[in-house]
Amino acid sequence: MAKRIGILTSGGDCSGLNSAIRAITLHAIQHYGWEVFGILKGTSGLIRRPMEYTQLTLQNCDSSMLRSAGTILGSTTKENPFFFPSEDGSKTDRSDDAIMGYRELKLDAIIAIGGDGSMRINSRLAKKGGINLVCIPKTIDNDLAQTDYSIGYHTAITVATEAMDRLQPTAASHNRVMVLEVMGRDAGHIALVSGIAGGADVILIPEIPYKIESICNHIKNINKAGRSFALITVSEAIKTEEGGQVLRGKSLNDRPRYGGVSQYLCNQLEEFLNADTRATVLGHVQRGGQPTAQDRILATAFGVKAVDMIAEQDFGKMVAWRNNEVVAVPIDSTIATYNGVNPNGVLIKTAKAMGIYVGEV
Ligand code: F6P
Repeated sequence: MAKRIGILTSGGDCSGLNSAIRAITLHAIQHYGWEVFGILKGTSGLIRRPMEYTQLTLQNCDSSMLRSAGTILGSTTKENPFFFPSEDGSKTDRSDDAIMGYRELKLDAIIAIGGDGSMRINSRLAKKGGINLVCIPKTIDNDLAQTDYSIGYHTAITVATEAMDRLQPTAASHNRVMVLEVMGRDAGHIALVSGIAGGADVILIPEIPYKIESICNHIKNINKAGRSFALITVSEAIKTEEGGQVLRGKSLNDRPRYGGVSQYLCNQLEEFLNADTRATVLGHVQRGGQPTAQDRILATAFGVKAVDMIAEQDFGKMVAWRNNEVVAVPIDSTIATYNGVNPNGVLIKTAKAMGIYVGEV
């Protein structure tokens, strides 16, 4: 009998989500003859009454979706079904409504595209309600364990590298130290990769401590060697030298909102190096723009595999990219650990070999 499957996107958006939605829809309809429903705003679409969803077809999932950022289904970072915000500001457990929504829609399975936070919530919901769940990893931070890459990461590092390309000429023209602050939360992948690709002199990531004195000495040596400008890439979640965290408050989901540590660094360099500095906080532009070819391919391969897993009744798993293969791994094994930068890994060695200061390693 033809299956009915749902797709939802939850957590922060990124480039490549629509490519995955398109791939799932095309493969499910063309190969299996199933019906596909897009659930709007994560699990919230299953909770609200009337339910918020849309049927996805070959007509409304054309190739323009490969090229577009964001998610046509919408997403949320604050509507956790277990702590769902009510109009009076209180939070209630609406997980039973989400489970009921799954049954009312007569779904055979759901493909949830999300990061670690969403995966935890969706997995808990699936276990509670007997929902057949397959997850697809997405996050610009690339911090999900068990997969080499998550959707959105390639586009983010491309955007961050391009920002470095744009900062270098202005740094050189004005003899300045330009500091680029990139996203990534507690993982330094975006800073490390865009820093190497963008010719940074200093890369600071949360996984490796640093000393302001070492940065100053490094830049002095660059100046002595005849270059009067420098480029620094810094992860948003690095701490100050004293161990403090620079925050812009909290998000509606109570997670710390990073942003601004690049200005702290500039202030330190102005004080101890007497350098002319400027800070650029790249922010959410890293999550937008056309997905790169790699993200489109990753999202498409993930979408195809997720549909095949439903056909094989292989549930409770996440698709993962490993050694140029797409494989299925248990969701529990993914959310149990965390993929940060390995301070002894090849990229740190590469950066050091290029003469980049990457902290005290
Ligand atoms: O996890 C993805 C991410 O973009 C982080 O890199 C960043 O710290 C955070 O989300 C920003 O979240 P928000 O969109 O809620 O400000």
